[in-house]
Amino acid sequence: PCTAQVDTTGELTIGGLSVSALVELYGSPLFIYDEEHLRAQMRASAQGFGQGRVIYASKAFPAVAMARIVAQEGLFWDAASLGELHAALRGGIEPAKIVLHGNNKSMEELSAAIEAQVGRLVVDSFDEIDRLEQLGTSRATRVWLRVTPGVEAHTHAYVRTGQQDSKFGFNLANGDAHRAIARVMASPRLSLTGLHCHIGSQVFALDSFRDAVAIMAELTLESGLDELCVGGGFGVAYLRDEHVPSVGAWTGWLREALCAHGLQEEQIFVEPGRAIVAASAVTVYTVGVIKRIPEVRTYVAVDGGMSDNPRPVLYGSGYEAFVPTRLFAPHDATVALVGKHCESGDVLVREARLPSDLSVGELVMTPVTGAYGYSMGSNYNRLPRPAVILVRDGRARIIVRRETLDDLFRLEADV
Ligand code: LLP
Repeated sequence: PCTAQVDTTGELTIGGLSVSALVELYGSPLFIYDEEHLRAQMRASAQGFGQGRVIYASKAFPAVAMARIVAQEGLFWDAASLGELHAALRGGIEPAKIVLHGNNKSMEELSAAIEAQVGRLVVDSFDEIDRLEQLGTSRATRVWLRVTPGVEAHTHAYVRTGQQDSKFGFNLANGDAHRAIARVMASPRLSLTGLHCHIGSQVFALDSFRDAVAIMAELTLESGLDELCVGGGFGVAYLRDEHVPSVGAWTGWLREALCAHGLQEEQIFVEPGRAIVAASAVTVYTVGVIKRIPEVRTYVAVDGGMSDNPRPVLYGSGYEAFVPTRLFAPHDATVALVGKHCESGDVLVREARLPSDLSVGELVMTPVTGAYGYSMGSNYNRLPRPAVILVRDGRARIIVRRETLDDLFRLEADV
């Protein structure tokens, strides 16, 4: 249940609050997260997965406030760095529900995780096995091995991870996975309980998952292990005409597939990030410049850009754009929605449909920006990061305050 609604004047409200009132209070650009929608996504993912456990892949949006919500909803938390681990601990996630990932974890990260007694540590390489044997883990920390099953997910090459040629995990085809399993099983200092794989992100094709599930279930059972996590990567719809399964449908389908291969519900884990959080947020910008080049193109420039959403530049990702105060106005002009950064690649939406009478000072909103937007943002051109707010039942709370000029220069030495 997304709480976004259009009021009688054609203005968008989220959590009962009008977008323009929120921008007046909190400034622009602004990330607005819909708490009810977020919680509903978490519940739906868990419901679909029965007794299996859902791990929120925090890289999508690792705010401390997210960790609080994840803790309240009873999900696990996937951390892929010391920072993501700390966000979990600060947000009150039980250490037993933290899963530590990463293809090159430092000694510092490993020791911190062991000290915090995280529930699962996902080992990615032989070098890491060496480091862990040096450190030794307590029984509280169960070890999983990340296996590269040799499955080509149908998605962008940058976010494809299950194929043989990958920096992640132990390859199955060349025997590394079996060698790693044998080695960790034989180690008196490590307790191996399960396997993990993640084939890629923004995946739409069920058959990529079908192959991974079959391969991984067999390997888990033949190795006599108790736990299997098949990663995340469920695609979400960014554009109007895209139709994808809901997160509950994804987890329901994977639960059935895993159980059909002989696993018990209590043994299975999934790890979605995007499918939980992407559609829960929108980014609101203010139009500063409208440049019309007759017969060529109209550029609409807003007060953010690739620093708050690098996905269009990085992956060529598409987004929709709307004027949230005038949803009834025909969005009848095709324009390029661009940011304020010093390069031509700084495009948010290549062919945005916006009202032809759009004027400077109006708001423009891009939906489905809750995942990998703020978390992959930067300070390029020394732009301060936008504020992030959480709305629910007519109440708004700042969960990450807007960066100030002082914040921007905090790390610099006086020379
Ligand atoms: N588990 C592991 C081990 C992962 O590496 C990832 C994502 C996930 C789970 C969650 O994937 P999700 O359900 O969110 O697709 N920056 C890219 C996405 C990179 C995903 C990296 N790993 C983007 O903006 O499309």
